[in-house]
Amino acid sequence: MKHNDSCGNYALIGNPVGHSLSPRIHEQFAKQLDIPYSYTLLEPALADFESCARDFFEKGGRGLNVTVPFKQQAVAFADDPSAAAAAAQSANTLRLDKSGRIAACTTDGPGLLAALVRRRGWDLAEASILVLGAGGAAASVLGALLEHGRGPIFIANRNRDRAVQLCARFADRDDCGRLHDCQLSEQELTAVGAECVINATSAGLAGSLPPAARAGLQSARFACDLAYGRQARPFLDLAGECKVENLSDGLGMLIEQAALACAFWHQAMPDTEVLYQMLGEEN
Ligand code: ATR
Repeated sequence: MKHNDSCGNYALIGNPVGHSLSPRIHEQFAKQLDIPYSYTLLEPALADFESCARDFFEKGGRGLNVTVPFKQQAVAFADDPSAAAAAAQSANTLRLDKSGRIAACTTDGPGLLAALVRRRGWDLAEASILVLGAGGAAASVLGALLEHGRGPIFIANRNRDRAVQLCARFADRDDCGRLHDCQLSEQELTAVGAECVINATSAGLAGSLPPAARAGLQSARFACDLAYGRQARPFLDLAGECKVENLSDGLGMLIEQAALACAFWHQAMPDTEVLYQMLGEEN
């Protein structure tokens, strides 16, 4: 693919993308870094990701943010996926390099840690972590959780086979045997007694909760939902009822992953603090 230095086009590709906060976030970053702002939304049909992304880069596009449901396809599309993106089978950022090759990385996991550990000061280095869900969202943060801490990480999923498969995919990054799959049941989650619970299921989309979430939260000091706004409420309200002291929705992760994507494109890290105010941080 031909790299065109005079163009600075960036976009979000996903389906749907209509309600995305990404344009506002990247507009703010562009102002800070004094980069001309050019950011559009691409919403191809589910089968058309590759042709749409190829067309974007051929017409002068320089970088894409990738969201649901295309993060896995983005890894396959890239010439040079990062090791973390390959392990997660998930890339949320693509960049056209001067060589004409497409590089891909995943900034979701590092973004989550930046939001929880760096900004909020959550001490997760030794914490036992329970991840609810084993879909794309769980996969996108697992590598960073493994790299960051030393405590055990339990993956509980309604369909247990997916949890088993996810653990297997990360086995070669799990030198100390910290990853375990478990049943999404009251008995197992009570036995796990995790200090930090991360809701990576999409149950909140339908305003519901993963089964046995209450049992998982009983011993927790930290609870985070990867979704933000209304979708995070069922889980965070339950965590509040369970007297979990530290709560976070996924807004911080959204902001921080965007900043890291911006750095992947422009080799300069924007300040994120202003975004928390602008987007109305709640938890
Ligand atoms: P995403 O990219 O948001 O992770 P996904 O890959 O479709 O989307 O995965 C959705 C996850 O939420 C899965 O772990 C799913 O569990 P199953 O694999 O058993 O389907 C989980 N999930 C969705 N709704 C749920 C619910 N009501 N209770 C428990 N888990 C739920």
